[in-house]
Formats: sequence, C-alpha cells, structure tokens
Amino acid sequence: MALSTGTKRVKTAVFISGMGSNLKSLIKFSKLKKSPISINLIISDNNRAKGLNYSKRFKIKKRILNFNKKNLTEKKVLFELKKYKINLICLAGFMKILSKNFIKNFQGKILNIHPSLLPKYKGLNTHKRAIQNQEKFSGCTVHYVNSKVDSGRIVLQKKVRITKRETPKTLRNKILVQEHKLYPKAITKIFNF
Ligand code: GRF
Repeated sequence: MALSTGTKRVKTAVFISGMGSNLKSLIKFSKLKKSPISINLIISDNNRAKGLNYSKRFKIKKRILNFNKKNLTEKKVLFELKKYKINLICLAGFMKILSKNFIKNFQGKILNIHPSLLPKYKGLNTHKRAIQNQEKFSGCTVHYVNSKVDSGRIVLQKKVRITKRETPKTLRNKILVQEHKLYPKAITKIFNF
C-alpha cells in the first residue's frame, strides 16, 4: 500500500451495512497501543444497521447515505473522507458495490473482508455454496478492492474445516470468529508493524 504511517495512525473509515461485528473488532484493534490505525468515521447505506450503535458507544462519527443514487452519494462520501483526512477504507459487510471512479480515487487504499477462500465463492451465499459443493475447507480473505467484485490482491487468508454436520449458520459463525482476527492481522501486515 502506498502509505507511510510515520508515528501517526492511519485515519480509517469503516463501511458497513449490517451487524458490524467486524467493525467492532476493528475498533478494539484500533485502541491497542501498537495499532497502526484509528477509526474516525463509519459509513453505512442502511440506517437500520446494528453496527451503527458502535458509533455512539465508541464516539465515532457516522454518516448514513442512500447509495441508490450512486454518483451523487459517492461524491458526498468522498467529501466526508477528505474532511476527516481518511487514508484507509475498510469494507466490513458493506453490501453496495463501489463505482470504478470511486475506487480510482482511493486506489490501493480500500480493503474488504470476504467469507470464503477467494478466488473461490465470490459474491453472496458463500457458506451455502461451499457446503453444497462438499468442500472440506472454507475460510475468509482480506483483499484489496479493485473494480471487479471480490477480485483484488489478497492480503491474508484463514482456512477453517467444514464438518459433516455443518450448516450455513454454523459455518458463518465459525468463519466470523476468524474474520475478527484476520482483519487486524492483515492491517498489521500491510503497515508492517
Ligand atoms: C462478514 O461475514 C463479512 O465477511 C461479509 O459480511 C459479513 C459482515 O458481518 N462481507 P459483520 O457486519 O461484520 O458482522
């Protein structure tokens, strides 16, 4: 990543749409003495996202925007990102696809976490598809975001075993536990701490 942290923490925005458990783990990580990041902004496309509660709890600014008007909204987001001097975006369960133009504006500075061992199972319903295909393993991936969905350069992956009695729900929970460790680990790797 074309970023140097120096002694200052990298100002980070986390984009969410739902529960926000990865947001929570990133906030906890950001509070560690050695963390390379600070979380300064939460962006959501969904005003009912449970994860928005972390904004109040941890006193982090939030912006809720309607991404259906994509161009206009992305302009607003870019304005907010500039305002808060954001230099890293972490997508964490964010369900909207960002435009090529937006990604270009933040080239090499957007990360995503995906609940599969990419390049396998891009897109939605990853757990169900992995079980249906009788995979022995699944897992999670932290990757850079480029203009193709779930296709950017991989930073780190973690494998988990799929048991005989696995359901999409048990697999999802099992992978989430790993996601909460993997995202901070990937950020640490990127900033070489
Ligand atoms: C996670 O499984 C993440 O990998 C995927 O969406 C889910 C979000 O969960 N992109 P949460 O909102 O962080 O709890």
